[in-house]
Amino acid sequence: RDGKTANALSEQEAWEEQQIRKSRLQFGSMDRGRRGDEYELLFDDGVEFVRSTVMAGTAPADDDDTAAAAAADEYHAEAMDAKATLQDERKTLPVYKLKDDLLKAIDEHKVLIVVGETGSGKTTQIPQYLHEVGYTAGGRKKVACTQPRRVAAMSVAARVAEEMGVKLGHEVGYSIRFEDCTSEKTVIKYMTDGMLLREFLGEPDLGSYSVVVVDEAHERTLATDILFGLVKDIARLRPDMKLLISSATLNADKFSDFFDAAPVFRIPGRRFEVGIHYTVAPEADYIDAAVVTVLQLHVTEPPGGGDILLFLTGQEEIETVEEILRHRLRVLGGKVAELVICPIYANLPAELQAKIFEPAPAGARKVVLATNIAETSLTIDGIKYVVDPGFCKVKSYNPRTGMESLLVAPVSRASAEQRAGRSGRTGPGECFRLYTEYNFVSDLDDDAVPEIQRSNLASVVLALKALGINDLVGFDFMDPPPAESLLRALEELFALGALNSRGELTKTGRRMAEFPLDPMLSKAIVASERYGCSEEVITIAAMLSAGNAVFYRPRDKRVHADAARRAFHAGNAGDHVALLNVYNAWAESGYSPQWCRESFVQHRTMRRARDVRDQLGALLERVEIAPCSSAGGGDLDAVRKAVTAGYFRHAARLQRDGSYRAVKSRQTVFVHPSSGVAQAPPRWALYHELVLTTKEYMRQVTELKPEWLVEIAPHYYERKDVDEPEPKKTAAATTPQEQTTAGSTPTKQTPNLNSFFD
Ligand code: CDP
Ligand code: MG
Repeated sequence: RDGKTANALSEQEAWEEQQIRKSRLQFGSMDRGRRGDEYELLFDDGVEFVRSTVMAGTAPADDDDTAAAAAADEYHAEAMDAKATLQDERKTLPVYKLKDDLLKAIDEHKVLIVVGETGSGKTTQIPQYLHEVGYTAGGRKKVACTQPRRVAAMSVAARVAEEMGVKLGHEVGYSIRFEDCTSEKTVIKYMTDGMLLREFLGEPDLGSYSVVVVDEAHERTLATDILFGLVKDIARLRPDMKLLISSATLNADKFSDFFDAAPVFRIPGRRFEVGIHYTVAPEADYIDAAVVTVLQLHVTEPPGGGDILLFLTGQEEIETVEEILRHRLRVLGGKVAELVICPIYANLPAELQAKIFEPAPAGARKVVLATNIAETSLTIDGIKYVVDPGFCKVKSYNPRTGMESLLVAPVSRASAEQRAGRSGRTGPGECFRLYTEYNFVSDLDDDAVPEIQRSNLASVVLALKALGINDLVGFDFMDPPPAESLLRALEELFALGALNSRGELTKTGRRMAEFPLDPMLSKAIVASERYGCSEEVITIAAMLSAGNAVFYRPRDKRVHADAARRAFHAGNAGDHVALLNVYNAWAESGYSPQWCRESFVQHRTMRRARDVRDQLGALLERVEIAPCSSAGGGDLDAVRKAVTAGYFRHAARLQRDGSYRAVKSRQTVFVHPSSGVAQAPPRWALYHELVLTTKEYMRQVTELKPEWLVEIAPHYYERKDVDEPEPKKTAAATTPQEQTTAGSTPTKQTPNLNSFFD
């Protein structure tokens, strides 16, 4: 544990980081370089705003108290040790004043909805209060607090451990997928909503918890929505359990209605006025507009007068903006004050995450580049300016094609208001929206669609079936998913052999449910028993789960990097086997960082893969699959077959024009340029996932023998699917309508789907 959490960046990693950054910068400046130079004349081409509205502040009359308390804090800061200061800080949070009332309400009611502005102390304080007054029964019971995001779970747990003066992982811990930082001692457990869902499998009444806090309920993630139904049920069964639903949206009626008219406890907000600015005209490139706005603010607003928070859609965008900002700041040189750039996104290493909470040095300003994690789950003090391009990444799912993709889409009005509110937490703020007021009023939706209505449900349906919940239509959903998505999920699980034709969980399904992975990947692991290659398949699964950044390619060493990479693909082995080769070679080197550097492989990804693999190994044991190896004897087809047993639905056939067509859905797809098979595309291919960039790309591709499809998935493929000569027509000529009808062709052995719902 210590090794894992004491996250000092090793030299190797620092070097890697630097290399990646370098290559990215060059890539970035290729893209935007020409314009980059223009911005030496920063303000000739600035973004023009109109100040339009002011969001009313809700700061209570005792503002002066707060200010006084803050001043007193500062005065005493030097004299006090860090711990005392933290304790004083806790007392300035809005929830503190209501501590007794809140605890009384919790005592009196089984289920309580807690609503309060972001930053009022719900997440960090309430579990501590519960612990202080004995809900943890001297260590015999735990308080669970769920978070929709991994980063939030980790960072909040770290903060609370610090406040309590304990070591992270002892009394206060967190649990996220593939990383359990808790111990026997743990009484306050922060966890992702998905992890609590999994805990139901081992402990259906959550008996070890006295209180369950479903936090950030307004986010309505898929796992949170499923949790709602499950916790509502156990709260009825367990008289000793308390249930808190905590949310940052003021409209709590929906939660209250769902939980049998549970009372709502409101924590009065502490928000200052926020000036809202819109652009005069729509911005063609919001990245550019965002960069310019940040620099405009930095240069024109008084130094040290408040930090900037910029909302972006994901890691890639954040890294791009970071590079552009650094570049422009270099160009501006000593002419402007220091701007400290702090990125925050899910995959950022923990030690760098902590940086966003550190105040900028005197005279400097901080700009936080965040995904919508900073909308409500994380509160960063000292933000005075919010820059909101108005976009976020949303998952969308087409049940007809079974395709799930991440799309950049406009935020909802509710999100835009939350984002703006982040600037008015410690004083009056300003929010700069990079779109027009007209856009805001007429183009944005009121609220985001709950994730359950736009997701592939195979994974949660499998989990529910494993919990013995067969009647999915009758499940207590706050907002039910589309019937079509449920059907699709059932079909998918049937095709994988996880359910029988009556919709009941099979032995295979029961085993699959043990793995915290996509059902297709779980199936590949379970199938590896039959093909005698469980060792290889868990390695591949671990590599696929550890992240997409396995290889890197420094610009000045591209030739070497590419050669190193090709070596893992010897014999056009396919990407899955290449991942296996990488891992095995690294293991043979004694898990050496030096080896990684020489092979242009990211050590961090490998370390994570090793971790994940250990856990998958333990789960194999739990489902009683013996460790076995086929590749030791050189049989890589056994490995490919096991992968096919999970991913047979992802089979595609090469077209004359070099594109591929998915065998069942008839969709046109392409080999991702990063794939090892890109140079010599096989006639038949199996892919891990599709990513939509400029085209639909298949990522992680392996050659497939078409007869395997009929052999491995006879209930899904018929001979004619693989024998029939491919129609002459080029892929591009296929109309979407044809794709749809072909995609919904009934499978050979169609289950009676109505019985699924019994
Ligand atoms: O959950 P809610 O939004 O109501 O507030 P919170 O997350 O409990 O945050 C309360 C305070 O703790 C904020 O003022 C944050 O600045 C601080 N905090 C922190 O400093 N570091 C963290 N990792 C989390 C919270
Ligand atoms: Mg919170």
